[in-house]
Amino acid sequence: MTLVEDYPGVRRFPFLPAEDYDRWREEGPAKRVRLPNGQETWLVLRQEEAQDILNRTDSLTSDMTAPGFPQFRRGRASGSPTNMLPRMDPPNHASIRKLFAGFFSAKRIAAWKPEIERITDEAIDDLLAHGSPADLYRDFALVVPSKVVCLLVGVDYSMAPEFDRLAEANNSSLVGAEERTASINELYGIVEGIFAEQRKNPTEGIVTDLLRRVDAGDLTYEAAVGNTFVLVVGGHETTAHTISLGSLQLMENPHLVQRIIDEPGKIPTLVEEMLRTQSIIGQVIGRAVTKPIEVADVVIEAGEGFAVVPEAANHDPRTFPNPHDIDLDRDLSFGHTAFGFGIHSCLGQSLARAELHTVFGRLFQRIPALRVAENDTPEFRRDPWIFGMRRLPVEW
Ligand code: HEM
Repeated sequence: MTLVEDYPGVRRFPFLPAEDYDRWREEGPAKRVRLPNGQETWLVLRQEEAQDILNRTDSLTSDMTAPGFPQFRRGRASGSPTNMLPRMDPPNHASIRKLFAGFFSAKRIAAWKPEIERITDEAIDDLLAHGSPADLYRDFALVVPSKVVCLLVGVDYSMAPEFDRLAEANNSSLVGAEERTASINELYGIVEGIFAEQRKNPTEGIVTDLLRRVDAGDLTYEAAVGNTFVLVVGGHETTAHTISLGSLQLMENPHLVQRIIDEPGKIPTLVEEMLRTQSIIGQVIGRAVTKPIEVADVVIEAGEGFAVVPEAANHDPRTFPNPHDIDLDRDLSFGHTAFGFGIHSCLGQSLARAELHTVFGRLFQRIPALRVAENDTPEFRRDPWIFGMRRLPVEW
């Protein structure tokens, strides 16, 4: 008989998996657990098996209303939208994904890069003008990705705080269904307003492009608005947590700061190692199984569900020797799962990387004395859906 243990919830240490995960991963690649709502589900904990199962698209569905889909969130907002990428299955997923992937092509990112650099430089100027001490999360880490989201959708940077407020409630597993539904509706209304405004006054962001594609019959208006909403929600708080947690990792490891100052060519490896060791996405990668799937000696039956746990898989010593360390000489050929894996892997990862490379190529180079404020303590966002920071008091 399978031993079912309670779902472990949130990690205690910011850069280590929740305690039970290390033990469970050594017991087997998949573990049956009981969620706080009483539902039983599977967790996939090893890197190789995680990537393998996410590729079994003919046996999986991302529809949250399908039997067995793991319901981690306290408040599940109404229904499972059928035109938003994270909840779509093949073959419909492929055409919308291809259309949106065009917005994140190497050419597009290269065109945005100078503005991302300008946004970052200006955010550092503002931080310096604010003076020491400061909250690196609110005063810097959140500023850069919020403005980049404004750039992406083609609106004025003054909208950034509004996006922050609404995305925070959308991304939380701790708020109730009513509060989440209200914030989803409010943000959805704002996104629809942006479409209406750009119908009259076109700008250079993706919304004007999308309106053209809607008019050409390439996608419906609902899919255009729905997926723009997904980009706004998914696109900046995640990156802000990675920036603030990554800054904390650097402040705790001054040798890494010195190394990237001496060898800027190591910044891409640093960023991958930050993404891997942080693994901020906790419960997002859930699926329901439609045909039985074998994971080593375990069979996950049709009608059951599972979640891949990036913090467990990305700290799997089979794939990553000394998994808890940031190793700037690590062979990264076996990729991590911080951005997920397979057809639903993060659509915005090239944009996130462009932001992270820019930030970590500038912040500590311009403020090398940056350190955690002596008489203050960092506060973490202890939400098992997405782990992150709430406040990072720094001085220099
Ligand atoms: C460090 C920052 C980020 C992290 C850690 C992250 C993580 C993830 C993960 C783990 C998934 C896969 C979910 C699954 O398999 O169910 C995902 C999907 C997605 N992400 Fe990100 N993300 C980040 C930044 C961004 C940005 C900047 C954007 C866009 C502006 C974005 C847009 C999306 C979209 C649209 C999907 C759904 C793709 C699909 O279902 O086909 N993300 N992200």
